[in-house]
Amino acid sequence: MRSKQTQSLQQLDNNFLHPWESIDELGSHTRTVMASGSGVYVTDTDGNKLLDGPAGMWCVNIGHQRKEMADAIADQVMKLPYASPWSLTNAPAAMLAEKLASLAPGDLNHVFFTTGGSTAVDSALRFTTFRNNVLGKPEKKHIIARNNGYHGSTYLAASASGKSRDKNFLDMDTERFHHISDPSVFDKPENMKDSSWCKQKVDELEQKILEIGADKVAAFIAEPILASGGVLMAPDGYHAGCLAICKKYDVLYISDEVVTAFGRLGHFFASEEVFNIQPDIITCAKGITSGYIPMGAFLVSDRLIESIKQEERSPYFSNGYTYSGHPVACAAALKNIEIMERENMMIHVREIAPYFQSQLQTLIDIPIVTNVRGIGLMAAVECDITGEAKKSLERDYAVGDRIDRHCQKLGLLVRPIINMCVMSPPLIINKEQIDDMVSILRKGIELAMADLEREGLWSA
Ligand SMILES: Cc1ncc(COP(=O)(O)O)c(C=O)c1O
Repeated sequence: MRSKQTQSLQQLDNNFLHPWESIDELGSHTRTVMASGSGVYVTDTDGNKLLDGPAGMWCVNIGHQRKEMADAIADQVMKLPYASPWSLTNAPAAMLAEKLASLAPGDLNHVFFTTGGSTAVDSALRFTTFRNNVLGKPEKKHIIARNNGYHGSTYLAASASGKSRDKNFLDMDTERFHHISDPSVFDKPENMKDSSWCKQKVDELEQKILEIGADKVAAFIAEPILASGGVLMAPDGYHAGCLAICKKYDVLYISDEVVTAFGRLGHFFASEEVFNIQPDIITCAKGITSGYIPMGAFLVSDRLIESIKQEERSPYFSNGYTYSGHPVACAAALKNIEIMERENMMIHVREIAPYFQSQLQTLIDIPIVTNVRGIGLMAAVECDITGEAKKSLERDYAVGDRIDRHCQKLGLLVRPIINMCVMSPPLIINKEQIDDMVSILRKGIELAMADLEREGLWSA
């Protein structure tokens, strides 16, 4: 039973149009109201303590309630809450730009600050068209992305996204944006070798470039791991193969590390350390401040900047935000990175990730669980109640939400995506907490399975 206070907040919340709001259900939602957090846990307004399985939204990487973060943010507010990034700068922004350049691979030394992941992707995409306009190639503006990719909610970022459900009743730029299939090894035919699958998927990129015309394609954008698409992993060598194709046709490679940067895969940036590529542009957000303050950025190589500088047309990249390089957000990011470095968080993730993955794998014996996959501290537990999940979406939807509801009662937040539970806990999670997480998830899935059986939606 919800307290009066919770019920009244839920009532007030009806004025809040949430992301991906179901307009039909507006007014009848009873979302859990979160009140506080500490470490890997959050507590709702009724005092229920929950393990934060998705780390907010893949973002609270250093965990909740870090006093140092509060102090750094408060100090900066008292010192200087804002400075225009147009004609001025500020110390935290300058220091953070230098720090990010030192952490990023290769010559990705220039940083453009944004307000979140969507604006990072949007700005990066705008940068690619800007560059080609400056270079006198106004035709070279087409963007290739992948099915099941998610890149955000501005017009350009949403146009790059490849999840059909995200295009519900909205307009997209379908002229300049093209999608190729995702390379998930999960979809690979049983008898095919990974290397053949990889070649097939890389060839698809090349074919798409040739189909559109290499002189028309500006960029290829890809998440290292398709995160919101369901933690879909490409075969080894895929990203390197795609980068080689991009280089061959002067197509820029944008690595969207909004989820993977800042530790999720055990490195500050995953592109080079995990996937062996030095992209032309990296976008990041979320873990950059561990979600304490909204912020994003894109990093671009010296080579690209130089290629534009050499032109004699004195170009302005007329793109930016009132809050680009916001001193408080930059101070939060600097403190967040300092904490990650001081606590050797990247090493911790690399050490604990195999345990996290292997414990989640134990769930595969539950009859409705059909696949458990992941890398680093991100994973998806996929359920299938029909044997043909993709053909029966309505019933399918029932699964993730049901598991989430049961898990919440048992003390765990999961991120339900249709028929999947996506787990991406704070990076500081330890073995005991992983054990708790997995045992609650097991109970939650089993309870959901029992409900479905009772309702005749599933049978063993
Ligand atoms: C890979 C990726 N890119 C971009 C975005 C958009 O970021 P934001 O929601 O901060 O605008 C997301 C959000 O989940 C994401 O997962």
